[in-house]
Amino acid sequence: MSVVALVGGQWGDEGKGKVIDSLAAKADMVVRFAGGDNAGHTTVNPHGTFKLHLIPSGIFYDNVACVIANGVVVNPAVLLREIAELREHGVGSHNLVVSDRAHVIMPYHTLLDGLEEERRGSSAIGTTRRGIGPAFVDKVARTGIRVGDLLDVDGFRSRLTSVMEQKNALLTSMYGHAALPLDEILEQYVDYGKQLRQYIRDTLPIIHDAIRRGDRILLEGAQGALLDTDFGSYPFVTSSSPLSGGATIGTGIGPTHIEGVIGVFKVYATRVGGGPMPTELEDETGHFIREKAGEYGATTGRPRRCGWFDAVAGRLSVQVNGMTEVALTHLDIFDGFKSIKVCTSYRMDGERVTSFPTRIEMLQKCEPVYEEFPGWDECTEEIGDFSLLPPNAQEYIRTISRLLGCPVSLLSIGPKREQMIEIRP
Ligand code: IMO
Ligand code: MG
Repeated sequence: MSVVALVGGQWGDEGKGKVIDSLAAKADMVVRFAGGDNAGHTTVNPHGTFKLHLIPSGIFYDNVACVIANGVVVNPAVLLREIAELREHGVGSHNLVVSDRAHVIMPYHTLLDGLEEERRGSSAIGTTRRGIGPAFVDKVARTGIRVGDLLDVDGFRSRLTSVMEQKNALLTSMYGHAALPLDEILEQYVDYGKQLRQYIRDTLPIIHDAIRRGDRILLEGAQGALLDTDFGSYPFVTSSSPLSGGATIGTGIGPTHIEGVIGVFKVYATRVGGGPMPTELEDETGHFIREKAGEYGATTGRPRRCGWFDAVAGRLSVQVNGMTEVALTHLDIFDGFKSIKVCTSYRMDGERVTSFPTRIEMLQKCEPVYEEFPGWDECTEEIGDFSLLPPNAQEYIRTISRLLGCPVSLLSIGPKREQMIEIRP
């Protein structure tokens, strides 16, 4: 298959970076299409351990073109830092390009993200405070700055002057915050533009030339379906679409070119930030999963909320993404578990609910209904073939596949690139 989208099936942090890093060995191009540096994609490979926020996880392969496409919002400071960190580990970025259409995260975006979270008080979304929401708001409001704008100093100055007049009015009157200095920001961002110039391109022809050549292209999703603005637990969501549909708009690849959609799920569930999570475990088991798996945010360091696999939410995710296969990660975390639960439906006001509710007020009332499965004692971390897994682990994977209505084709059994089992029907 030449164009395959890889998307998060849950609330983000499913292990997309790890799976991309493994699959990129057979790819020609990896493209980020949504989100920004709210993403934290961890990869452990021969170069070291990395938490990438913006650069596609294919960067470790010299011959893989890496594209930050138009759908991403780019914080230039973060991108430059990431390029420098990779360089320190001997990883070059000569194979990286950034779309001139991608929007730029400006200092007022990060500031407003934090101020708005403070203002929301107890109903805060729990954003990463990276300015993601405010940057996407500006994109849609047509007051955004695009990466290409940084290269045209005069045009940039006039645009920024107009935008900052509005931002400073908002900062001072609504939040009682000091106005931000236009000239300083202008100078700083013109400098970022100079430093990034070598990477900035119209990425559309680059991607379409690759499609024409029949190159193998991986579209690297960020966040997860349950954080989607339309289908997630609104308003506790992110501000761009993490779905396979988002990959078309975020890259300029029409849907007919996308031949497969891999959904990445953990064998359990995690969520970081606010909003309902029906299977959350605020007990010893939840604590145990968090500590064993190191479930702390790659971007913010916050402890992630942990719980059992939620197949109701998972089915929504398969549906809205048109998933053709599933990659299950963190199977090894369940090694040694006596039994494992999976949420197969919810109970709300005494009624059985089998589809993910549209409103959080309903979702908050949903109690998970579990099926329990026997666990296994064996260590799965070194196993190379599905048939060699403990029978109960095989059965658990078959159960997830049946509940999701989608074949499981990949299994991750540890953080390293090679800890991956391919399952062929
Ligand atoms: P990756 O790509 C997990 C969550 C935040 C918050 C909500 C909105 O690593 O899976 P935002 O800063 O986007 O406005 O925050 O979305 N969130 C993520 N959670 N993984 C991510 O990315 C996330 N990106 C955003 O915690 O609840
Ligand atoms: Mg993450």
